[in-house]
Amino acid sequence: MRSLSKRNDWHNRYERDTCSPIPTSEDIDDSWRLVKSVANPDGGFNGGIDLVVNKHDGLLAVRKRLRPRPRCTGHDHMRWRREMLVLRKLDHHNIPKYYDGFFTPERGSLYMQPCRLGSVSDFVDSHRKKYLSLEMQEFFLWYILHEVAEAVLYMQTGFKCLADARRSHRDKVKGWVSLVHGDIRPDQIFLNNTESDPTTRVMLGDFGFAQFIKPWHSCEVHDGPGGKSSSKAPEFPSQISTATDIFGLGAVAQLYIAPCEKVKAGLNQGWLSQLHVSKELDSLVCRLVAVQPADRPTIREALQETEWGLKVREDRGLGLSLMAGPLFKCLYAFPRTALSN
Ligand SMILES: Nc1ncnc2c1ncn2[C@@H]1O[C@H](COP(=O)(O)OP(=O)(O)O)[C@@H](O)[C@H]1O
Ligand SMILES: [Mg+2]
Repeated sequence: MRSLSKRNDWHNRYERDTCSPIPTSEDIDDSWRLVKSVANPDGGFNGGIDLVVNKHDGLLAVRKRLRPRPRCTGHDHMRWRREMLVLRKLDHHNIPKYYDGFFTPERGSLYMQPCRLGSVSDFVDSHRKKYLSLEMQEFFLWYILHEVAEAVLYMQTGFKCLADARRSHRDKVKGWVSLVHGDIRPDQIFLNNTESDPTTRVMLGDFGFAQFIKPWHSCEVHDGPGGKSSSKAPEFPSQISTATDIFGLGAVAQLYIAPCEKVKAGLNQGWLSQLHVSKELDSLVCRLVAVQPADRPTIREALQETEWGLKVREDRGLGLSLMAGPLFKCLYAFPRTALSN
């Protein structure tokens, strides 16, 4: 009896989070003017990424358009709706803010906070092509890992940072329904700054695979664009769990540290130290990408280690100020001038 009421309790919260309606009116698109197309459709659901501006208040946004595939199923629709619902629910400094959106079975648009410095993959690519003259600094990787880990802690527990989690006697914020991103990769992590604040902010994006963890169900089996690559956890996409997001952190570190290497899950200890990173980072990354999900650290453990990594570096300010501003002109920075015509 007690477990039934617990289950109903959970169900009510899940329903509240996921079933409040998403607007269905295409008129929402009329409020936004296209500034620039940023990325083309990649063949999946994504019907293109645009930079747009709100006609009424001048707010700049990224629009992700939905273009259903010819034989789109109800399951596909559910996933797209869920991406919107998830983004709308989340409120964290390391996750792009949801601005607006609508969904119909034929099409949809999702409007969100733009991150003008591109993704971590863009950043690594710029280095590879020698657009950027600054060194890849270990400090900046610790920083990226710390920020993404904070977003993951928030998704799992509702706590916005480790200090909040430590102050509480609970595992989670009361009533919080845990969420797994499921597909953390360097090209899903965006960098941002503003004209008034040059600090580089790190944002975890693309919640297309995200799922709420229902306590009594095994994880949903995905039929999506899985594929094996060094960025994907061995259990992706069939057995996504909280440990999959931990692997994602390691995958980000691997690309950053060894962009030209073919890296595989299950690295031996010591491999990264050949690339002149600290033994602490080497050790952490090896554990993050452990083949067996159960061998990976918890999000609290991972976050604690990245806090250590941030503390021991003294060049914190230097690393960040070098990252910001005109160095990124090779990336698609969103220029003010684009808005005036
Ligand atoms: N909020 C954002 N700010 C800046 N660029 C974004 C944002 N969201 C998406 N993008 C760009 O669009 C690309 C695709 O977006 P993503 O949400 O990952 O779509 P998909 O589901 O097709 O992978 C990203 O790799 C990034 O370059
Ligand atoms: Mg993506």
